[in-house]
Amino acid sequence: MFNSKHLESPVQRINHPLLRDKKVTLLVKRDDLLHPTVQGNKWRKLKYNLIELKRLNRSAILTFGGPFSNHLYATAMASKLFNIPAHIIVRGPHLDMQNPTLRFAKACGVNLHAVTRLEYRQRSDNAYLQDLATQFPNTYIVPEGGSNQFALQGCKELALSLPNADYVCCAVGSGGTLAGILSGLPTSTQALGMCVLKGAEYLSQEVCRLNPNAASQQNWQLMHQFHDGGYGKFSDAQWAFCQQMKQDHALPLEPIYTGKMMFGLWQLIEQSYFPEHSTIVAIHTGGLQGLDGLRYRNLI
Ligand SMILES: Cc1ncc(COP(=O)(O)O)c(C=O)c1O
Repeated sequence: MFNSKHLESPVQRINHPLLRDKKVTLLVKRDDLLHPTVQGNKWRKLKYNLIELKRLNRSAILTFGGPFSNHLYATAMASKLFNIPAHIIVRGPHLDMQNPTLRFAKACGVNLHAVTRLEYRQRSDNAYLQDLATQFPNTYIVPEGGSNQFALQGCKELALSLPNADYVCCAVGSGGTLAGILSGLPTSTQALGMCVLKGAEYLSQEVCRLNPNAASQQNWQLMHQFHDGGYGKFSDAQWAFCQQMKQDHALPLEPIYTGKMMFGLWQLIEQSYFPEHSTIVAIHTGGLQGLDGLRYRNLI
C-alpha cells in the first residue's frame, strides 16, 4: 500500500528581480504538497518505516514528540490513513487538549501518553526503550523526529526526484533529512543544510553517524548563522519575509524550519554567495501545521 506510486511533489520556479540581477535560478521542491496532511520530510521519513512495520508484522507504531511536533502530527495522520494504531509519548507533563496539534492527533484516534520532561529525556536510552517495548508489546518504535535508517531511504528517494542543480538547500533539525538526501545526490551538487538550532556544531557528526558515506563526501556543509535566535525562535524580519513569500509567490512558509531556510538562502543570494548561472533547489520540507500552533500561542 505504501509502495503504490504516488505523484511526486511539484517544483516551483521563483521569479524575482533579485534572482535576475544575481543571474541565479531558484527552484522550490514543494514537498509540502506531497499529500494534504502527511507532508514534507515527515512522510519521506515515515514511508519506509511503515513498510518495515508491516514486514515485521508489528501491530502498532510508537513514537515521541513535543506537543506541537510535525512528526507527531504526520504519524497521527499516517496512523489514521493506514489504520495502524499509534502510541505517542508526548513531552508533558500535561496534555493541553486545546493545542491544535494534539487535538488533531486525538481526532485521528492516536493514544497520547504525556510524560514528564525528565522521563522524556530518556527517549533514546536502550533501557527505557526496552521498558516501552514490554509495556506496548509488538509495537514498532520510531525515534523522535523519525530519523533512523528507514527514514534515510525515504529522503534518498526525495533527492533522486530532484531536478539537476548546482546547489540543494534544506532545513536541518536532527540531521536525518540531510543525511538521507546526501545518499541520493550527485557529487556535482553541493548540499547546504541550514541549522535551525543554535550551537548545533555537533550536527556534522550526527549526519555522518546516520550516513557514514557523508564523512568522505566533500559536497555538503552545514550553515550555522541562520538559526534566527535558536530553535522555535524567530525574528520579525524573518516572519515578514515568510508572509511576503506567501503573498508574492504563493509560497507558504513557517518560521521554525522552512522560513529560516528560505530567509537564510535569500541572504546568501543577496551576498552573491552563488556563482552566476547557478541553479539552486530549495526543499520545502512541509511543517505548515506548525503555523496553527504558533497562532494558538499568539506567537504570530
Ligand atoms: C518541517 C521540517 N523541516 C525540516 C526538518 C528538519 O529535519 P531533520 O530533523 O531531519 O534535520 C524538520 C524536523 O523536524 C521539520 O519538521
